[in-house]
Amino acid sequence: MVALDTAHISARGVTRIFGTGHAQVTALSDVDVNIHSNNFTVILGPSGSGKSTLLNILGGMDRPTSGRITAGDKALESLSEQELTNYRRTQVGFVFQFYNLIPNLTASENVALAAALVMPHKEAAHVAKQLLEEVGLGHRLNQFPRHLSGGEMQRVAIARALAKKPALLLCDEPSGALDSKTGLHILSQLQRTAHTSNTAVVVVTHDASLASSANRLIRLADGKVVENSVNSSPEIIEERL
Ligand SMILES: Nc1ncnc2c1ncn2[C@@H]1O[C@H](COP(=O)(O)OP(=O)(O)OP(=O)(O)O)[C@@H](O)[C@H]1O
Ligand SMILES: [Mg+2]
Repeated sequence: MVALDTAHISARGVTRIFGTGHAQVTALSDVDVNIHSNNFTVILGPSGSGKSTLLNILGGMDRPTSGRITAGDKALESLSEQELTNYRRTQVGFVFQFYNLIPNLTASENVALAAALVMPHKEAAHVAKQLLEEVGLGHRLNQFPRHLSGGEMQRVAIARALAKKPALLLCDEPSGALDSKTGLHILSQLQRTAHTSNTAVVVVTHDASLASSANRLIRLADGKVVENSVNSSPEIIEERL
């Protein structure tokens, strides 16, 4: 079990090389970043700059070719596959561009299924309802995904990711498939989650206007960190809506 404290997650000298020989791609090159709880961290960068690769490595879905990831007091490279799976399952929530909800489960069942990984079933159903209410979907509990809008499906996905109270919430282009207004609502929700819970929220986006909303801004280009800045009074996204 990996216990995370507020120092949270750090990457040191992380390099990730895919393929071999002529087909070799350096997706990340000597990356150093720190991820803190109560922070809304934004990762910006052009397509192919290594954003998803970094997210996957921070979340224990992939391992670096070299370098270290430390989560709390644990070095992820020292974990066995089983321990890494356990880290991912209990400490990390993921939100993707295309929701990935289970189509034949209702909104509340989708969330409860995730919650049941870490708590008894009865409690999981209660927590699911509570989380869906928090994301403004109290009136959609029993709807199937096909009857929900894109923004609503993404809210369900956020509630699902938060069900296990993760130390780290990793979001890869969470507004990428949504119109700009709906996307801003989703990003506002994520920023609020970062500021009001102990979950460290990391959002990858193409939307450069999010830079001013970040507590921490990481800009990648060609697999390298070209900006790593801290903003103690970020813009509140909700005020744009
Ligand atoms: N599994 C893989 N095998 C080979 N190359 C990969 C793999 N995953 C990523 N890459 C390469 O690594 C580089 C970084 O990819 P990554 O997906 O991290 O970029 P990104 O910043 O998330 O891009 P986008 O904004 O388009 O999602 C790219 O050149 C990509 O082609
Ligand atoms: Mg990507």
